[in-house]
Amino acid sequence: MVKAMVTGAAGFIGSYLVDELLAEGSSVVGVDNMSAGKMENVEANTGNSAFSFVKLDLREEIGGKLPRDVDVVFHLAADPEVRTGLDHPESQFENNILATYNMLEFARKSGVKRFCLASSSTVYGEPKVAPTPEDYAPLLPISIYGCSKLACETMAFGYGQTFGIQITVFRPANVVGGRGTHGVLLDFIAKLRADPRNLLILGDGSQAKSYVHASDVAKAFVLINSRAAKLSPFEVFNVGNAGKTSVRSIAEIVSSEMGISPSYTFSGGVDGGRAWKGDVRSVLLSIDKVRAAGWAPNWSSDDSVRRSVAELLSRSARGGR
Ligand SMILES: NC(=O)c1ccc[n+]([C@@H]2O[C@H](COP(=O)([O-])OP(=O)(O)OC[C@H]3O[C@@H](n4cnc5c(N)ncnc54)[C@H](O)[C@@H]3O)[C@@H](O)[C@H]2O)c1
Repeated sequence: MVKAMVTGAAGFIGSYLVDELLAEGSSVVGVDNMSAGKMENVEANTGNSAFSFVKLDLREEIGGKLPRDVDVVFHLAADPEVRTGLDHPESQFENNILATYNMLEFARKSGVKRFCLASSSTVYGEPKVAPTPEDYAPLLPISIYGCSKLACETMAFGYGQTFGIQITVFRPANVVGGRGTHGVLLDFIAKLRADPRNLLILGDGSQAKSYVHASDVAKAFVLINSRAAKLSPFEVFNVGNAGKTSVRSIAEIVSSEMGISPSYTFSGGVDGGRAWKGDVRSVLLSIDKVRAAGWAPNWSSDDSVRRSVAELLSRSARGGR
């Protein structure tokens, strides 16, 4: 049985990953400081003897606060919101860079030999090649969030080279799903609840990104981890979809799932149509490498968005967020 540790376990993607790891027979230690995590995301697993949970803030030195007997760390805990970097860059320094450093130190001192890092497609900045492959360069992220993720990647690379830890980096595109905590789907749902007749869309609506469902992302992490013996000491995998969905299409999907027909107003945005500074207007990753390893998404970009909107609406109808 693989003994896995998942940081950010009570968060959005982390909780899908915990479910997937337990389903394929691993034991899981979940770690989260609950700054954005929700117990409801992991409570279905609390009776499972293969699952344990530690509440811990990874900005602190870890010392003996986590069990050392693990085969692989999946490090997902982070401040994942690009917009935070506009007003609070220190949050991404602390929760992304410092927390990753602390987890790498934990791996080094505990003798953990495998470390999977959730990075992000934002490390590509505004690449000149699309679909963008993993070996695209130069990596010049345009947001503080993207910079922090690239710093985490390079620090993990250094730890891998120096201390013999096998590093696997995942760069997901835009991840959506019923346990989502932030992002355009939730923004639109909240705005349309407040005013079902009109929706203000940040930017010019033409920003288009590849969306992928969190359950598909979790399956990619678990599948690639199961191939660890065949992986190099440092590997990077994009995880996304072959197609893109525009912000305007998302507005239409959200409206149709809510059964309303609002008019749309566009803010125009900044820097020629971005929703905010640091927003990448177009994201389309090459997924050839992860496909070649045997993974395929269950849902297209549009279908991931539609399914996630339905899940978010049904969750809030049941009294969730
Ligand atoms: N959501 C996306 O579209 C997306 C895309 C690409 C990459 N990612 C990456 O995937 C990972 C998970 O993102 P998510 O969308 O599930 O976000 P999330 O906010 O739902 O989950 C992150 C979790 O980490 C926890 N956390 C934050 N700071 C912590 C700290 N200092 N100590 C301990 N726990 C802490 C939070 O409480 C939360 O539960 C992040 O690393 C993010 O950068 C997300």
